[in-house]
Amino acid sequence: MNAPAAPSAATPAARALYERVSHVITPFEWPDFEADVEAILRLKRERDAIILAHNYQSPEIFHCVADVVGDSLALAREAAKGESRVIVMAGVHFMAETAKLLNPTKTVLIPDPRAGCSLAESIAPEDVALLRQAYPGAPVVTYVNTSAAVKAASDICCTSANAVKVVESLGVPRVIMIPDEFLAKNVAAQTRVEIVAWRGRCEVHEQFSARDIRELREAYPGAVVLAHPECPPEVVAEADFTGSTADMIGYVGRNRPARVALVTECSMSANVSVHYPEIDFVRPCALCPHMKRITLSKIRRALETMQGEVTIDPAIAAAARRAVERMLAL
Ligand code: 13P
Ligand code: SF4
Repeated sequence: MNAPAAPSAATPAARALYERVSHVITPFEWPDFEADVEAILRLKRERDAIILAHNYQSPEIFHCVADVVGDSLALAREAAKGESRVIVMAGVHFMAETAKLLNPTKTVLIPDPRAGCSLAESIAPEDVALLRQAYPGAPVVTYVNTSAAVKAASDICCTSANAVKVVESLGVPRVIMIPDEFLAKNVAAQTRVEIVAWRGRCEVHEQFSARDIRELREAYPGAVVLAHPECPPEVVAEADFTGSTADMIGYVGRNRPARVALVTECSMSANVSVHYPEIDFVRPCALCPHMKRITLSKIRRALETMQGEVTIDPAIAAAARRAVERMLAL
């Protein structure tokens, strides 16, 4: 099918961008985005800014204004090597904090500071201290989906892409792994290291059940099912592959299944399908309300006003940075 015509007022640059996303954004929606896209592209140059966007961002952000896209690990790595003066995080607050930890002298903006995460909300530094008391000597491996204060109370961070590697790198028989109960259980199934878990959950991935996956396979024969490790273990057991958001994208690129179901946040399928229009994406997805707080107009406003700057208490920044850098060094 030919791409629908871009709205007539479009500049050549905006028209080219629209052609890229016309598979997932209708010509009726695009005029709402176009002025913001053009303003953001100009403001990025004027402010010497780059935009880092997580794989769950909406297609008009992911494909039209982001400079770097990826999973939490990739965004942390890119934040560590950025050259620009300003970083805008199109993602949630803990991601912006991680970018700031790795770039203490740069301005890091989050277009909506209320963009949180149910995992980050589930645990405080005092809880980490209690866990250490209960399991003396066990190191604390902390998922990056946490506040800087919790990172500061930890030994090392991990993401869903490297959690098993991080746990095994410590060379101990037991670790405390916070805060995602399901990620901890899914990691425990892949290692001999004993994992002490916390009871945090991702409010998006905890919604999926094994029954959902079985029903999906009946309704969409031949679908290859990829699940995020924040899903319950029963879902992971039913899936054909489990990995971080970037690992799922890598799987699709390498294997090019005719039909695939990404059991994760909704925007992933839309974003990936832009690159693989021939693949049938079944969408058993759920929206992350925190990721969806970030919009084009908020990104534009952040760059215009330079508001939404992320700051980290110097009393915790050094220890939190150490935990993130120790992970990146592996
Ligand atoms: P990834 O690191 O796999 O991108 O996951 C981040 C996240 O918030 C998943 O819910
Ligand atoms: Fe947090 Fe889940 Fe949203 Fe990721 S998808 S930001 S883990 S609530």
